[in-house]
Amino acid sequence: MPLYKNFFFDSETQILVWKITETYQELFSGVVLNMKNRERLNGMKSELHQRGFLSVRKLLQEAGYNDLELYYDAFGKPHLKDDKNISITHSHEFSAIIISNRPVGIDVELHREKIIRIADKFTTAEVAYLNELDVKNYIQKLTVIWGAKEAIFKIQNEKGISFKEHISVLQFELDQLKTIANLNFGNLQKKFNIHFEAIENFTLVYAFEKR
Ligand SMILES: CC(C)(COP(=O)(O)OP(=O)(O)OC[C@H]1O[C@@H](n2cnc3c(N)ncnc32)[C@H](O)[C@@H]1OP(=O)(O)O)[C@@H](O)C(=O)NCCC(=O)NCCS
Repeated sequence: MPLYKNFFFDSETQILVWKITETYQELFSGVVLNMKNRERLNGMKSELHQRGFLSVRKLLQEAGYNDLELYYDAFGKPHLKDDKNISITHSHEFSAIIISNRPVGIDVELHREKIIRIADKFTTAEVAYLNELDVKNYIQKLTVIWGAKEAIFKIQNEKGISFKEHISVLQFELDQLKTIANLNFGNLQKKFNIHFEAIENFTLVYAFEKR
Protein backbone atom coordinates (compact mmCIF):
# COMPACT_ATOMS: atom_id res chain seq x y z
CA MET A 1 0.00 0.00 0.00
CA PRO A 2 1.96 3.05 -1.14
CA LEU A 3 0.20 6.30 -0.22
CA TYR A 4 -0.74 5.68 3.40
CA LYS A 5 -2.17 9.05 4.34
CA ASN A 6 -2.79 12.38 2.64
CA PHE A 7 -4.64 15.03 4.59
CA PHE A 8 -4.87 18.76 5.21
CA PHE A 9 -4.10 19.51 8.85
CA ASP A 10 -5.50 22.98 8.25
CA SER A 11 -6.14 25.20 5.22
CA GLU A 12 -2.42 25.89 4.76
CA THR A 13 -0.76 22.61 5.77
CA GLN A 14 -0.73 19.25 3.96
CA ILE A 15 0.76 16.03 5.39
CA LEU A 16 1.50 12.94 3.32
CA VAL A 17 2.74 9.54 4.49
CA TRP A 18 4.07 6.69 2.34
CA LYS A 19 4.33 3.05 3.35
CA ILE A 20 7.26 1.68 1.39
CA THR A 21 6.31 -1.72 0.05
CA GLU A 22 7.62 -1.20 -3.49
CA THR A 23 10.95 -2.38 -4.87
CA TYR A 24 13.69 0.08 -5.75
CA GLN A 25 12.88 -0.33 -9.47
CA GLU A 26 9.16 0.27 -9.00
CA LEU A 27 9.85 3.48 -7.11
CA PHE A 28 12.67 4.64 -9.39
CA SER A 29 10.64 4.23 -12.58
CA GLY A 30 7.83 6.37 -11.18
CA VAL A 31 9.74 9.52 -10.25
CA VAL A 32 11.56 12.48 -11.77
CA LEU A 33 15.00 13.18 -10.26
CA ASN A 34 17.35 16.10 -10.76
CA MET A 35 21.02 15.38 -11.53
CA LYS A 36 22.27 16.12 -8.02
CA ASN A 37 19.76 13.77 -6.48
CA ARG A 38 20.51 11.02 -9.02
CA GLU A 39 24.11 11.21 -7.82
CA ARG A 40 23.02 11.26 -4.19
CA LEU A 41 20.81 8.23 -4.73
CA ASN A 42 23.64 6.30 -6.40
CA GLY A 43 25.94 7.11 -3.50
CA MET A 44 23.59 5.70 -0.83
CA LYS A 45 24.85 2.51 0.72
CA SER A 46 21.59 0.96 1.84
CA GLU A 47 18.68 0.09 -0.42
CA LEU A 48 16.32 0.92 2.44
CA HIS A 49 17.65 4.47 2.43
CA GLN A 50 17.34 4.64 -1.37
CA ARG A 51 13.74 3.47 -1.26
CA GLY A 52 13.00 6.00 1.49
CA PHE A 53 14.52 8.76 -0.61
CA LEU A 54 12.56 7.71 -3.72
CA SER A 55 9.31 7.37 -1.78
CA VAL A 56 9.69 11.01 -0.69
CA ARG A 57 9.70 11.92 -4.42
CA LYS A 58 6.47 9.93 -4.81
CA LEU A 59 4.97 11.96 -1.97
CA LEU A 60 6.13 15.20 -3.58
CA GLN A 61 4.41 14.16 -6.80
CA GLU A 62 1.22 13.31 -4.88
CA ALA A 63 1.30 16.87 -3.54
CA GLY A 64 1.66 18.32 -7.05
CA TYR A 65 5.43 18.95 -6.93
CA ASN A 66 8.45 17.11 -8.25
CA ASP A 67 12.13 16.82 -7.43
CA LEU A 68 13.03 19.68 -9.79
CA GLU A 69 11.08 22.03 -7.52
CA LEU A 70 13.01 20.97 -4.41
CA TYR A 71 16.46 22.08 -3.32
CA TYR A 72 18.63 21.73 -0.22
CA ASP A 73 20.55 24.45 1.60
CA ALA A 74 24.08 24.08 2.98
CA PHE A 75 22.70 22.51 6.20
CA GLY A 76 20.78 19.81 4.31
CA LYS A 77 17.44 21.49 4.98
CA PRO A 78 14.97 21.04 2.09
CA HIS A 79 13.14 23.98 0.48
CA LEU A 80 10.51 24.36 -2.24
CA LYS A 81 11.11 26.86 -5.02
CA ASP A 82 7.61 28.34 -4.59
CA ASP A 83 8.62 29.41 -1.05
CA LYS A 84 6.26 27.09 0.77
CA ASN A 85 7.90 25.32 3.71
CA ILE A 86 8.62 21.63 3.51
CA SER A 87 9.99 19.09 5.96
CA ILE A 88 10.94 15.50 5.20
CA THR A 89 11.39 12.32 7.23
CA HIS A 90 11.96 8.63 6.53
CA SER A 91 12.45 5.65 8.78
CA HIS A 92 12.39 1.99 7.74
CA GLU A 93 9.18 1.41 5.78
CA PHE A 94 7.62 4.83 6.35
CA SER A 95 8.32 8.26 4.93
CA ALA A 96 6.42 11.50 5.35
CA ILE A 97 6.43 15.10 4.19
CA ILE A 98 4.69 18.21 5.48
CA ILE A 99 4.13 21.24 3.25
CA SER A 100 2.87 24.50 4.69
CA ASN A 101 2.82 28.27 4.44
CA ARG A 102 4.14 28.20 8.02
CA PRO A 103 7.56 26.94 9.22
CA VAL A 104 7.10 23.23 9.96
CA GLY A 105 9.08 20.16 10.97
CA ILE A 106 8.18 16.47 10.79
CA ASP A 107 9.66 13.24 12.11
CA VAL A 108 8.71 9.57 11.97
CA GLU A 109 10.29 7.20 14.48
CA LEU A 110 10.06 3.48 15.12
CA HIS A 111 9.13 2.46 18.69
CA ARG A 112 12.27 0.86 20.07
CA GLU A 113 13.19 -0.31 23.52
CA LYS A 114 16.66 1.09 22.86
CA ILE A 115 15.29 4.61 23.37
CA ILE A 116 15.15 3.91 27.14
CA ARG A 117 18.92 3.59 27.22
CA ILE A 118 19.48 6.99 25.62
CA ALA A 119 16.60 8.81 27.39
CA ASP A 120 19.03 10.67 29.63
CA LYS A 121 20.74 12.17 26.58
CA PHE A 122 17.65 14.06 25.39
CA THR A 123 15.35 14.58 28.39
CA THR A 124 15.60 16.82 31.46
CA ALA A 125 12.35 18.51 32.60
CA GLU A 126 10.31 15.68 31.01
CA VAL A 127 11.56 13.23 33.65
CA ALA A 128 9.08 14.80 36.10
CA TYR A 129 6.09 13.37 34.26
CA LEU A 130 7.53 10.17 32.75
CA ASN A 131 6.83 6.84 34.45
CA GLU A 132 9.58 4.31 33.78
CA LEU A 133 7.57 1.48 35.30
CA ASP A 134 4.88 1.57 32.61
CA VAL A 135 7.34 0.43 29.95
CA LYS A 136 5.10 0.46 26.83
CA ASN A 137 3.76 3.93 27.64
CA TYR A 138 7.28 5.11 28.59
CA ILE A 139 8.74 4.03 25.22
CA GLN A 140 5.92 5.69 23.31
CA LYS A 141 6.19 8.94 25.27
CA LEU A 142 9.96 9.02 24.84
CA THR A 143 9.43 8.50 21.11
CA VAL A 144 7.03 11.46 20.99
CA ILE A 145 9.52 13.62 22.90
CA TRP A 146 12.39 12.61 20.64
CA GLY A 147 10.28 13.18 17.50
CA ALA A 148 9.13 16.59 18.77
CA LYS A 149 12.73 17.67 19.36
CA GLU A 150 13.83 16.44 15.93
CA ALA A 151 10.87 18.25 14.31
CA ILE A 152 11.73 21.49 16.16
CA PHE A 153 15.36 21.13 15.20
CA LYS A 154 14.30 20.81 11.54
CA ILE A 155 12.50 24.16 11.84
CA GLN A 156 15.12 25.95 13.89
CA ASN A 157 18.36 24.20 13.01
CA GLU A 158 20.98 26.32 14.69
CA LYS A 159 24.41 25.23 15.66
CA GLY A 160 24.61 24.49 19.36
CA ILE A 161 20.98 23.58 20.04
CA SER A 162 20.92 20.63 22.41
CA PHE A 163 17.80 18.46 22.73
CA LYS A 164 18.52 17.98 26.41
CA GLU A 165 19.50 21.50 27.41
CA HIS A 166 17.42 23.74 25.17
CA ILE A 167 14.16 22.02 24.19
CA SER A 168 11.53 20.84 26.68
CA VAL A 169 8.28 19.07 25.90
CA LEU A 170 5.41 19.82 28.28
CA GLN A 171 3.42 17.09 29.98
CA PHE A 172 1.00 15.17 27.75
CA GLU A 173 -0.98 11.94 27.54
CA LEU A 174 -0.70 9.72 24.48
CA ASP A 175 -4.42 9.99 23.69
CA GLN A 176 -4.25 13.81 23.62
CA LEU A 177 -2.28 13.65 20.36
CA LYS A 178 -0.79 17.07 21.01
CA THR A 179 1.35 19.04 23.40
CA ILE A 180 3.55 22.14 23.56
CA ALA A 181 7.31 22.46 23.55
CA ASN A 182 9.62 25.30 24.49
CA LEU A 183 12.91 26.21 22.91
CA ASN A 184 15.20 28.32 25.09
CA PHE A 185 18.52 28.86 23.41
CA GLY A 186 20.49 32.01 24.25
CA ASN A 187 18.23 34.93 23.38
CA LEU A 188 15.95 32.69 21.38
CA GLN A 189 12.71 31.79 23.20
CA LYS A 190 10.02 30.07 21.19
CA LYS A 191 6.96 27.92 21.75
CA PHE A 192 5.87 25.16 19.40
CA ASN A 193 2.62 23.27 18.93
CA ILE A 194 3.39 19.58 18.72
CA HIS A 195 1.03 17.03 17.14
CA PHE A 196 1.61 13.31 17.12
CA GLU A 197 -0.05 10.05 16.20
CA ALA A 198 0.84 6.37 16.16
CA ILE A 199 1.20 4.75 12.75
CA GLU A 200 1.52 1.00 13.24
CA ASN A 201 4.63 0.66 15.45
CA PHE A 202 5.91 4.14 14.54
CA THR A 203 5.11 7.62 15.82
CA LEU A 204 4.61 10.53 13.47
CA VAL A 205 5.31 13.92 15.04
CA TYR A 206 5.02 17.39 13.52
CA ALA A 207 5.70 20.82 14.93
CA PHE A 208 4.61 24.38 14.18
CA GLU A 209 5.94 27.50 15.75
CA LYS A 210 3.16 28.84 17.99
CA ARG A 211 1.56 32.01 16.63
C1 LIG B 1 19.15 16.48 10.48
C2 LIG B 1 18.33 15.59 11.35
C3 LIG B 1 17.27 16.47 12.04
C4 LIG B 1 17.66 14.47 10.54
O1 LIG B 1 16.81 13.68 11.28
P1 LIG B 1 16.83 12.08 11.25
O2 LIG B 1 15.88 11.59 12.29
O3 LIG B 1 18.22 11.60 11.30
O4 LIG B 1 16.27 11.65 9.84
P2 LIG B 1 14.87 11.95 9.18
O5 LIG B 1 14.63 10.89 8.18
O6 LIG B 1 13.78 12.18 10.19
O7 LIG B 1 15.13 13.32 8.44
C5 LIG B 1 15.99 13.37 7.35
C6 LIG B 1 15.59 14.57 6.54
O8 LIG B 1 15.75 15.74 7.32
C7 LIG B 1 15.99 16.82 6.42
N1 LIG B 1 17.10 17.59 6.96
C8 LIG B 1 18.42 17.28 6.95
N2 LIG B 1 19.13 18.28 7.55
C9 LIG B 1 18.23 19.21 7.92
C10 LIG B 1 18.35 20.46 8.58
N3 LIG B 1 19.53 20.95 8.94
N4 LIG B 1 17.23 21.17 8.84
C11 LIG B 1 16.02 20.69 8.47
N5 LIG B 1 15.83 19.50 7.84
C12 LIG B 1 16.94 18.78 7.58
C13 LIG B 1 16.32 16.23 5.04
O9 LIG B 1 15.19 16.45 4.21
C14 LIG B 1 16.49 14.77 5.33
O10 LIG B 1 16.05 13.87 4.35
P3 LIG B 1 16.59 13.89 2.83
O11 LIG B 1 17.98 14.42 2.87
O12 LIG B 1 16.47 12.48 2.37
O13 LIG B 1 15.65 14.82 2.11
C15 LIG B 1 19.19 14.90 12.45
O14 LIG B 1 20.07 14.00 11.86
C16 LIG B 1 19.96 15.85 13.32
O15 LIG B 1 20.98 16.35 12.97
N6 LIG B 1 19.46 16.08 14.53
C17 LIG B 1 19.98 17.01 15.47
C18 LIG B 1 21.19 16.54 16.17
C19 LIG B 1 20.97 16.27 17.59
O16 LIG B 1 20.93 17.17 18.38
N7 LIG B 1 20.76 14.99 17.93
C20 LIG B 1 20.38 14.51 19.19
C21 LIG B 1 21.32 14.75 20.31
S1 LIG B 1 20.89 13.81 21.73
